[in-house]
Amino acid sequence: MSTPLDLTSNLFFFIFTVTILYVAYTFPKLQPNQTNLVFYVHDRFTGDHSTAATVAGKSGTASNILHFGTVAIVDDPVTEGPTIDSPLIGRAQGMYVNSQLDGKGLYMVFSVIFTSGKFKGSSLEIQGSDIFAMKEREFGVVSGTGYFRFVKGYGIMETEFMDIANLKATLKLNVSVKHY
Ligand SMILES: *[C@@H]1O[C@H](CO)[C@@H](O)[C@H](O)[C@H]1NC(C)=O
Repeated sequence: MSTPLDLTSNLFFFIFTVTILYVAYTFPKLQPNQTNLVFYVHDRFTGDHSTAATVAGKSGTASNILHFGTVAIVDDPVTEGPTIDSPLIGRAQGMYVNSQLDGKGLYMVFSVIFTSGKFKGSSLEIQGSDIFAMKEREFGVVSGTGYFRFVKGYGIMETEFMDIANLKATLKLNVSVKHY
């Protein structure tokens, strides 16, 4: 048999539950933002303005980046458009390791540090494999700073220009990331 006290507490419990459910369903959910961006990275191992250098490999620093085991360090210009004289928006700093036995695949790990434009002062951390003979290869975007804090995503890399004899290439990176 219920007492008046039980009734009051049941009513209180009912109102409390309804309130919680109302708040849970109407409170704006924290949705991640999505950002898409396209930029170009210019890899130049030769010439006056080279920004990439092999530092180790089977034949020491003279190792070719197209041979298995070679390690190269890059500080490549990042531009808005596909040509080298297009506005500079940052640098791609990091390294490539030729990590495929037949020499046709690189492991890449670098930061894209934005120095001008919308993302100035922010960076993206890129990591993945670059099987450079493929038209499109997908890589991971593992983290970031500034505007890109808590970022997670992927990107698609395409070779925009390649001069294999002089080890020069321009890469188009199309990045899709989620962040808060
Ligand atoms: C970038 O990649 C997305 C798929 O992730 C695609 O829908 C979009 O068209 C690409 N943009 C450019 C400019 O290539």
